[in-house]
Amino acid sequence: MRKITNISRDIIDRDNKVVCSLTRPYDLVVDRAEGSTIYDVEGNSYIDFAASVAVMNIGYNCKAVKKAVCSQLDKMVHCGFSDFYAEIPVKLAEKLCGMTGYDKVFLSNSGAEAVEAAMKLAFWYTKRSNMIAFYRAFHGRTLGALSLSGSKRRHKEHFPSLGVVHSHYAYCYRCPFNLEYPGCGIYCVEEIERTIFKRELSPEDTAAIAVEPIQGEGGFIVPPVEFHKELRRICDENDVLLIADEIQSGGFRTGKFMAMENFGVRADIVCMSKSIGGGIPLGATLSTDKIMSWEPGAHANTFGGNLLAAAGGLATLEFMESRKLGEKAVEKGNYIMKRLNELKDDFPLIGDVRGIGLMIGAELVEENKIPAAQKRDTIVKKALDGGLILLPAGDSVIRFVPPLIISRTEIDKGLEIFESALKSVQDL
Ligand SMILES: Cc1ncc(COP(=O)(O)O)c(C=O)c1O
Repeated sequence: MRKITNISRDIIDRDNKVVCSLTRPYDLVVDRAEGSTIYDVEGNSYIDFAASVAVMNIGYNCKAVKKAVCSQLDKMVHCGFSDFYAEIPVKLAEKLCGMTGYDKVFLSNSGAEAVEAAMKLAFWYTKRSNMIAFYRAFHGRTLGALSLSGSKRRHKEHFPSLGVVHSHYAYCYRCPFNLEYPGCGIYCVEEIERTIFKRELSPEDTAAIAVEPIQGEGGFIVPPVEFHKELRRICDENDVLLIADEIQSGGFRTGKFMAMENFGVRADIVCMSKSIGGGIPLGATLSTDKIMSWEPGAHANTFGGNLLAAAGGLATLEFMESRKLGEKAVEKGNYIMKRLNELKDDFPLIGDVRGIGLMIGAELVEENKIPAAQKRDTIVKKALDGGLILLPAGDSVIRFVPPLIISRTEIDKGLEIFESALKSVQDL
């Protein structure tokens, strides 16, 4: 059982006074980390099943990345990469192109920034100014990315929004049309041609369809393969671009470097961030020579191509490949899915277990599939007390996204803690 003292309480109080607008699910004040374990300021240790929101795929304190960053630190921290040339960001761009098969990269600092670049590129290339995205989608919190994110309420309450029409994602556990896969014929995706293109937004005015290969923040929703294949067909037949947001699902988390590879679909523009920097802020927007043909100066930033981020990113990608983290994600992910499905047999609270590789979600439900949001939050807190870091997603989902280097012993220990948290709430 973790012990909390005034050391954490004091930092939390000071945080509350000067930091704004963040929601923390619990009072964890971190101090250091190693591999798949985080230590707080009191010295309590936690197995990390969240990887700091799918960022730390390579694990914490990775020696290879630390060495690359430290040696770059000795040479030069930053150069204005939009004004000067430098080799390390070029090497990173070459590596990203080599791993994905795209021709060009725009380097940035975050997921939202990678999405903004993708949107701007799609508007510029097609000379159209609207997009289609999905309910429950999450693409970031800058205004363009927020327009794509799938909560209309949020846009309406506070923010002006770009021209984005939302359609239904293939959330088969809660089919919006009350149909069942595969008999449904992926009715949800056909809504784009059946209704949106006819009644709301003509294809001639649609620059792109933006989609997460697997919805992350929306609840770890894995669509059937045909969903993405149909999206590709709709884009091809209507001369619309397909943007894949790989920010959470990329970086070998699902076994493949890009999660879209699991669906056999190639997007026109890809957004990456989170894990590709190994914990250092890094974003990348990738596309073909043809699409990324915007003139010099059409898009730029101060910190894209930052030397430390580029050195860290390059070392991260090399580490991921040399340690075969994709294979590890599949092997460990299959094991966690099997164990979670066994728990599902014993705990009616677990309504659905779904995922690919180490991008796994367990949806918690009451009778009649009512989302068990409160019980989910209690489980997450109890797990923390027992030494396991979990994070929520969607309405009542718990995500299982540990570092890809996590050991079998740590997985078993983490699942044991999860099981006892489940037991403690099942009869509440
Ligand atoms: C799929 C997806 N896109 C975009 C973002 C936004 O990334 P950032 O928070 O780095 O701006 C996130 C963050 O969780 C994400 O999961």
